[in-house]
Amino acid sequence: MSTTFTLDTATSRAHPVPEPVRRLTVPAIQARKKGGVTADPVVMLTAYTARMAQLLDPHCDMLLVGDSLGQVIYGLDTTVRVTLDLMIAHGAAVVRGSYRSVVVVDLPFGTYEASPEQAFETAARVLRETGAAAVKMEGGEVLAPTIDFLVKRGIPVVGHVGLTPQAVNALGGYGARGRSGAEAAKIEGDARAVAAAGAFALVVEGVVEPVARAITAAVACPTIGIGASPDCDGQVLVVDDMLGMFERVPRFVRRFDTLADRISAAAATYAQAVRDRSFPAEAELYLPKPPKG
Ligand code: KIV
Repeated sequence: MSTTFTLDTATSRAHPVPEPVRRLTVPAIQARKKGGVTADPVVMLTAYTARMAQLLDPHCDMLLVGDSLGQVIYGLDTTVRVTLDLMIAHGAAVVRGSYRSVVVVDLPFGTYEASPEQAFETAARVLRETGAAAVKMEGGEVLAPTIDFLVKRGIPVVGHVGLTPQAVNALGGYGARGRSGAEAAKIEGDARAVAAAGAFALVVEGVVEPVARAITAAVACPTIGIGASPDCDGQVLVVDDMLGMFERVPRFVRRFDTLADRISAAAATYAQAVRDRSFPAEAELYLPKPPKG
């Protein structure tokens, strides 16, 4: 069923109807996993704009303002050049466009790794200026003291282990991690350390399935897989990958639409209408007609 929105003409803010929606909370997400079991998997997608947040929000538990926006929105080759100001602008837009989901904002490369104090300053600014509920940061054992520092000071943190794209220059690429015994043990150790430090959820990206399953069994907080295992406690995808906006997506990504083809077809129809001077007076002419009755 599609969601209907009522537009508040004073603010241009779209409200889902008929009932006002209460936002999920960080403790509610954390509590999804009880005794190692998550009966209701955590649904997460990335979102970067207010309108996309409005569309995704009714279906998701968490919206991630991922630093993948560097590649998806800005055409950068990696996430390394994404700035804090960009993350804050998009984070605030996603909070404005959402009502139900817990909004999590990625801390970009270079804004949190130096010290717990640096991470606190950055995360506090993100929460203050966006209204988001939590931040996400990439890294393992070495980051555990920072996560502990933030959590003890009231900043909810989502961890991110396995393939950590901000470290692409050190990793040498985006290949799946955890194929060797030593690498698998390192990633599992990272996951345990991040969870023990107080992360309320843990993104597990691009690891071989047995590693994702072992992590999910080992940690108390929900794991959210991306190219990891269907057995994680939840899943996340980059929304543009999920919608089929790109010709090439990572091998592990499942597309749920082919939106790029549909946008291209609509643009071609528009271009033809302009060139034919058959541009209709009513834009609705091109929209599918509602079923009769
Ligand atoms: O930046 C991002 O979109 C992410 C997801 C891939 C988990 O970190």
